[in-house]
Amino acid sequence: MKRFSLIALLTCVSWSLMAQEAYQIGDKVTMYYPANFDSVRHLPSLALLEEPTATKRLAQFPKVLSPIFSQGDSTTIAEIMIEAETDLYGTGEVTGDLVRNGETITLWNKDNYAYGKDNGKKLYQSHPWVMGVRADGTAFGVLADNTYRQQIDLTSSIKFISDGPAFRVIVIERDSPKEVLKALGELTGTIEMPPLWALGYQQSRYSYFPDTRVQEIADTFRTKQIPIDVIWMDIDYMDGFRVFTFDKEGFKDPKALNQYLKSKDIKSVYMIDPGVKKDPGYAVYDSGTAGNHWVQTAQGVPFVGEVWPGDCVFPDFTRPETQRWWAGLYDDFLATGIDGVWNDMNEPAVFDGPDMSMPIDNIHRGGGVLPQDIHLRYHNVYGLLMVRSSREGILKNRPNIRPFILSRANFIGGHRYAATWTGDNASTWDHLKMSIPMSITLGLSGQPFNGPDIGGFSGEATEELLGHWMTVGAFYPFSRNHSAIDAPFQEPWVFGKEVEDASRKAINKRYQLMPFLYTLFQEAATTGLPVMRPMFLADPKDLKLRAEQEAFLWGDDLAIIPAWAESPQLPKGAWEVLPFNEVPDQYQPTLKVREGAVIPMGPVIQSTEDYQTDMLDLVVNLDAAGKATGRLYIDDGKSFDFKSGAYVHYEIQVVQTGPGNYTATVKKLGGALKQKPEFRVIVLDNGQRLPIAPKAVKWKYLD
Ligand code: NOJ
Repeated sequence: MKRFSLIALLTCVSWSLMAQEAYQIGDKVTMYYPANFDSVRHLPSLALLEEPTATKRLAQFPKVLSPIFSQGDSTTIAEIMIEAETDLYGTGEVTGDLVRNGETITLWNKDNYAYGKDNGKKLYQSHPWVMGVRADGTAFGVLADNTYRQQIDLTSSIKFISDGPAFRVIVIERDSPKEVLKALGELTGTIEMPPLWALGYQQSRYSYFPDTRVQEIADTFRTKQIPIDVIWMDIDYMDGFRVFTFDKEGFKDPKALNQYLKSKDIKSVYMIDPGVKKDPGYAVYDSGTAGNHWVQTAQGVPFVGEVWPGDCVFPDFTRPETQRWWAGLYDDFLATGIDGVWNDMNEPAVFDGPDMSMPIDNIHRGGGVLPQDIHLRYHNVYGLLMVRSSREGILKNRPNIRPFILSRANFIGGHRYAATWTGDNASTWDHLKMSIPMSITLGLSGQPFNGPDIGGFSGEATEELLGHWMTVGAFYPFSRNHSAIDAPFQEPWVFGKEVEDASRKAINKRYQLMPFLYTLFQEAATTGLPVMRPMFLADPKDLKLRAEQEAFLWGDDLAIIPAWAESPQLPKGAWEVLPFNEVPDQYQPTLKVREGAVIPMGPVIQSTEDYQTDMLDLVVNLDAAGKATGRLYIDDGKSFDFKSGAYVHYEIQVVQTGPGNYTATVKKLGGALKQKPEFRVIVLDNGQRLPIAPKAVKWKYLD
């Protein structure tokens, strides 16, 4: 087949014959091969959406950014020299600053409670990806297409140091960082459009137990009128931590519980871990053993390691039969009315294994397109392969409903299958502050749908910390409060009225901004641009923005400035405060609208079940020429019907034509949905919202 022609070519000319080679695989996108590239040990790529088809061999290497491949004692290296004054970003799920220069990160997916180990430089996911932004605002991206354990060393260049065989590297060259991110999206794919409910506020706990406690949480949110869309079920719902089972006492009727939640317009997400209890008589263990589905030791017997239920075996997701078997396990599970799935511990975490995982010489038998190989190769993609298979299982049951999966471990490209959160953070100020560059950085590494545990997972949140975390947390792309089994409760009301009120106000704003947020997710799903963005993305030439990591943007147009931000730097222009009719408090972040922007907003709702787009506000910050532009995307929020045209995407321009007079042009960019919302124009003026009388606006609809 055409798309494998390059692989075939490389395989037959491999080893000694082949010199280092470069292929143009897109406009200013180059793929570099080291001399001894072994396609069997690397391909097919799990990072790339597909193997590049358009490939032209370059007679000469580009002068800049060409990797130098070399071999260490037991490592293979690709080094890319960078010009002075280049700011580096990306590198995936990492602690530390937004600007990554000087950092060294280990890519070896790792359970890391409270990020207490490895100084936070080795977490749950691997993204062999670095984006560089030069002083003039032009940018490039470097992707090492390599799943093996490796380090990214950014102390003086961009160096990937791998414990596996020599690997290929892709370099993207563009005029701006946004264009680099779009090119990354083309290579690795983008997220699928999530269900609308997954954008709502979510409440979790390790664990809400039993089912009556879950109901009580749901009731409290509704009584207190704090909007919520999802409640999460952590491991204690299971029978002795056996995946795909329910505790016979505490969760004896999951169907009834899920139905109860639905009656309150609340969705349920349940955890599924990869470790299957080694327990003859337990159906999942028995069927998995009968199907020979377990990862094997170097001696060829099922590997056994300890996780929550005690001794466990682990599905070998490289095997097509195992993928199908795993997907099939979701049939009965989903029949209870579960809405979403949480795949945790999928680094995989093994409490008594080397480096808290499996031995690197364990065997994954592969089959289908993936060859048999050792764990060293497949460790970093274990989570990706697991969520891909989970997604298959969900889709098989509900072919026209968008799945929602949250995964702790992943690999670059795995955003195609699951959203993520940043694992076991802690209830400290450092973790709150760090969550912003972390979340932005994941977005700059291809994963826009992410967020940390609001309030912090381990340790004790204080009143002040939770107040600040809930109010900023309403603006993470994935907004979920979660806490550990031994941490005090941290629902928005536990510290009394002030934090409860502050949380409600912030979450209300998230729901009012839902039309804007949903439109940003559509942009992420179609272009790869992140939802939560660093300031510099809006103006890469402005060097003052390069390191801003307290305040952040939603898209290009809305700035979120935490109350504790010390010196937030915003892109140039006359940003206007977006005021809300509320009693002020010490916690609310300031929201500001970019000059020249239109933000579509709706009413406060308690759940996205009540989301409507019949009547929306267009909140406008006119630029100096009296103009503002925005976009609005609408579909059913649930199904894949948008793929066959059941959506509408508008560009909206508001122009002041005279004192108190406006023209609003609503131009259809695409879609066949007939829906035309009624709009009300609201002009921002010195911290005030000025509603414009319908008569003062002349509406033009362009189809
Ligand atoms: C580890 C996860 O990171 C955490 O969020 C979860 O609560 C525990 N596992 C228990 O399932």
